[in-house]
Amino acid sequence: MAVLEIKKYPEKILKERASPVQEIDDELQRLIDDMIETMYSAPGIGVAAPQVGVSKRLIVADVSLKDEEKTPLIVLINPEIISSEEEIDSEEGCLSLPDYTTHLKRAGRVFVKGLDREGNPVELEGTGLLSRTLQHEIDHLNGMLIIDRISSIKREFFKKRFQKSLLRD
Ligand code: NI
Repeated sequence: MAVLEIKKYPEKILKERASPVQEIDDELQRLIDDMIETMYSAPGIGVAAPQVGVSKRLIVADVSLKDEEKTPLIVLINPEIISSEEEIDSEEGCLSLPDYTTHLKRAGRVFVKGLDREGNPVELEGTGLLSRTLQHEIDHLNGMLIIDRISSIKREFFKKRFQKSLLRD
């Protein structure tokens, strides 16, 4: 296993729509293991494949670090949100946007389907932090970051702050 480099805003791959996984082979298993190790090492509660430079529809998540709820480690290939309910406003960050958090409204409950790492069809329900994390990671597969979900005023503010941080470095 290896800790992979996490791609950061404004790298182009983060804006791309990722392709469906076609084959569940050894290479994919290695990628999954590396994504899990990268997530725990960050530390983070979710990682999507584009964040480690692979434009494929694959996510890993483990919210047990931040949530009392004992949800096991989740690996989802080609995940899709089937339905969502409620709306909850909460603070959110992203490993690809270091030192930035923002309040975002997201569904408080989602039903997601996909394949597990062996290729078996799975369906799962996420509430609370898991619901938010699943939506966040699936957004990554569609080239969407949290700054694409905030108001244009907030986004301009983020971009100005980002430009300033580049000048500092
Ligand atoms: Ni993220």
